Amino acid sequence: MSDRISSDPTGAGDQWGSQAGFILATVGSAAGVGNVWRFSYVAGENGGGAFLVLYVLSVLLIGLPIIIAETAIGRALRHDHAPATRRLPKLRHWQFFRVLSVLSALAILSFYAVIAGWALRYLIGAVDGSLLRIASTGHGEFFARFIADPVEPVIWHAAMMAATVFIVIRGVQRGIETANRILLPALFAAVALLAVYGVTQDGAGAGLRFLFQPDWTVLGQPRVYLAAMGQAFFSLGVGMAIFVTFGGYMPQRQSVPVAALAIVAGDTLVAVLAGIAIFTTVFAYGTDPTAGPQLAFITLPHIFVALPGGRVLAVLFFALLVAGALTSMISLLEVPVAWCVQYTPWRRRQAALALGVLIFVLGLPSALGFGLLADIRWHGRGILDSVDFVASNFLLPLGGLLLLTIVGWRWGRAPATAAANLDGNRAAAPWYILIRWITPLLVLVILARGFLNG
Ligand code: PHE
Repeated sequence: MSDRISSDPTGAGDQWGSQAGFILATVGSAAGVGNVWRFSYVAGENGGGAFLVLYVLSVLLIGLPIIIAETAIGRALRHDHAPATRRLPKLRHWQFFRVLSVLSALAILSFYAVIAGWALRYLIGAVDGSLLRIASTGHGEFFARFIADPVEPVIWHAAMMAATVFIVIRGVQRGIETANRILLPALFAAVALLAVYGVTQDGAGAGLRFLFQPDWTVLGQPRVYLAAMGQAFFSLGVGMAIFVTFGGYMPQRQSVPVAALAIVAGDTLVAVLAGIAIFTTVFAYGTDPTAGPQLAFITLPHIFVALPGGRVLAVLFFALLVAGALTSMISLLEVPVAWCVQYTPWRRRQAALALGVLIFVLGLPSALGFGLLADIRWHGRGILDSVDFVASNFLLPLGGLLLLTIVGWRWGRAPATAAANLDGNRAAAPWYILIRWITPLLVLVILARGFLNG
């Protein structure tokens, strides 16, 4: 089933087991620590409410049209007997996109595995109860000591990479579809529960105002636009061929725009619920919403300690965070593995092992960036943040631009709209105008302004 499928998106392998397969796999890839850990800290650093507005706009005007374009071309490449693909883009541009997507995947996975490792460490702490024995006020110190340790973060990072390699070697299709069918509803339930708990705390109102009441003055800063766009790219996982690959296994009769809408809605819902849970608590405890990458790891355990039955919830939450991380890591490793299998003599097993080791090594500076290498900073950011910043705010948007150029400018309107299931649809013209003009221009302007302002 899977070897050939996942390694050869242009081949004629089989399909998702059900209509829901594509949506489950892509929401699984999209919803991860990016929605909980990254969304909350980036929103916190960039002014809360106004950031949320820009984020939702980025999702709708940039993320959604690109997801449709990526999926359409992925499916067209796979079903290449379809009339839609008669004028498929020239390979040269396609290869640029694929190579860039491989680089993005390597960069993102190198630091993502470190964060996933932190989540695994917290899961173990929740299971053995040690996390709940730390006094509520001690979580900041505990976390700071943990991430500064020269050995611990590296071990957890290695463990998460090993698990990812193990799954990717075995082939992912059935694993992803089945795992997500169970894990995704549970993930939604867990964040919803935490959000409800957050809202019922004394002092929760300040957190809700921070997240939902925009302070428009931050809109004067170009970095806020860049951060919102980068978060949309990262959280949806667009701009690096994941939707191309997974779209290849989608049945012809399934509607691309409907699936794309479900993906962005699901991903945004998880982020907003996580934001509610975290910011209500941050404000209820009087902690700093601009704390940066630490935010979720320090404030969430606060909730669990205070909560009756908090241990069960802590286990559930961190288990789901680890599982969400894993489903995202599988797609992130799948992109370079699929590329290697297609374009090098390597087989899946060799490629997954070699790339796993490479990514582990590439991730070491990120894993050690809060302790041994804490002095290395770039524009005020540590190593992990810097890799994340460059990958999310520059590499993914560049990948998105390249894809839009291929689909919007080289493929042709009729085949592109047909492959996107938009022919005869009222949304066809707006979508085509978006992918040809508006989305690329928005991305270019935000990139340029962000770049010029550092
Ligand atoms: N979207 C994932 C998350 O939010 C991370 C990811 C990025 C996955 C890029 C795939 C590609 O956690």
